[in-house]
Amino acid sequence: MNTDETMQPVSVLMVCLGNICRSPLAEAALRQAAEREGLALHVDSAGTGGWHVGNPPDHRAQEVAQRLGDIDISDLRARQVSAQDFYTFDHILAMDSNNLADLQALRPADATANLALLLDYVPGQQGHAVADPYYGDISVFEMTWVQVSAATAAFARNLR
Ligand code: 4NP
Repeated sequence: MNTDETMQPVSVLMVCLGNICRSPLAEAALRQAAEREGLALHVDSAGTGGWHVGNPPDHRAQEVAQRLGDIDISDLRARQVSAQDFYTFDHILAMDSNNLADLQALRPADATANLALLLDYVPGQQGHAVADPYYGDISVFEMTWVQVSAATAAFARNLR
């Protein structure tokens, strides 16, 4: 539930390594889940690394978002996570434990964001990772989409 007195939408930042595969898919999937649940959410994504800053999502991520989710993610652009994000967002959700450790190292002592793994919100999958599909083929990206769709649906339901 959104308990903020000003009723700002709850804000969620999805974070992976490059911000071109997993987190843009998780961003798109959460937008879709929020729409389905009738929730006002502000959703963004970022990478812990800066190598792909300014780039659109990987073409394989774009393809599965379109084909399996009917979502066009071609207009997303990669950015690197910053310390400021820990004050701007209510939730920062990491895809894997490396992302989580990098975020914990960046996290300011007085950060207000809640930091967790995305899969911590899925019953029975606490502590699990959304595996990096970058070196896999398109079938791995399909699995990533299925995984982030289920996880973001669980996260959205949890917010209600
Ligand atoms: P992502 O995948 O973290 O899900 O965006 C990767 C993208 C790029 C690289 C690794 C993982 N890379 O090594 O460039």
